[in-house]
Amino acid sequence: MENCVEKVILNEMDLSDIVKKLGNQISKDYKDKNLLMVSILKGSIIFMSDLMREINIPCKIDFMSVSSYNGGVKSSGVVKISKDLDISIEGYDLLIVEDILDSGITLDYIINTLKARNPRSIKICTLLDKPKRRTANIKADYVGKEIPDEFIIGYGLDYDEKYRNLPFIGIANPALYS
Ligand code: IMP
Ligand code: MG
Repeated sequence: MENCVEKVILNEMDLSDIVKKLGNQISKDYKDKNLLMVSILKGSIIFMSDLMREINIPCKIDFMSVSSYNGGVKSSGVVKISKDLDISIEGYDLLIVEDILDSGITLDYIINTLKARNPRSIKICTLLDKPKRRTANIKADYVGKEIPDEFIIGYGLDYDEKYRNLPFIGIANPALYS
């Protein structure tokens, strides 16, 4: 896997610092709330599992799986729910945990779907944000780091379902997909 990354942009220490900061802030903000963390599979699994261990207030977790990418590097614009939540979200303060906010099409669809189920509140926590590529009218409440418009892999993020297991985040070598 050595040549899959052109440049590392966040190493393991950077990621740990970012996640600790987010966890502290979320723990403060949700102290008197009814926190339900919703991880969007599969990209956010590593971020979710690290982030939830930095949260020092009671919370529940659930998972939802959607896809808008069909193995390529650009969003197809079509979102499909392939695994829905197990918990009924009425009365919960939802925190959606995402790996990366890109066009925003995926989260826009998820938020609209979940709003209709009457949660008490919905906020978004994304590890990475590519604001330049946004087409949907959507903004994250918690952002780990803004990054430039490059295709990245590692720490949960894939290219064609591979490279999620890299412990760092790097810009994918264009040779992977060209
Ligand atoms: P959006 O609907 O365009 O915001 O796409 C969001 C989803 O696309 C994310 O949850 C990721 O799974 C995937 N994605 C967007 N950019 C990248 C990237 O640079 N590398 C890997 N996956 C990405
Ligand atoms: Mg994904």
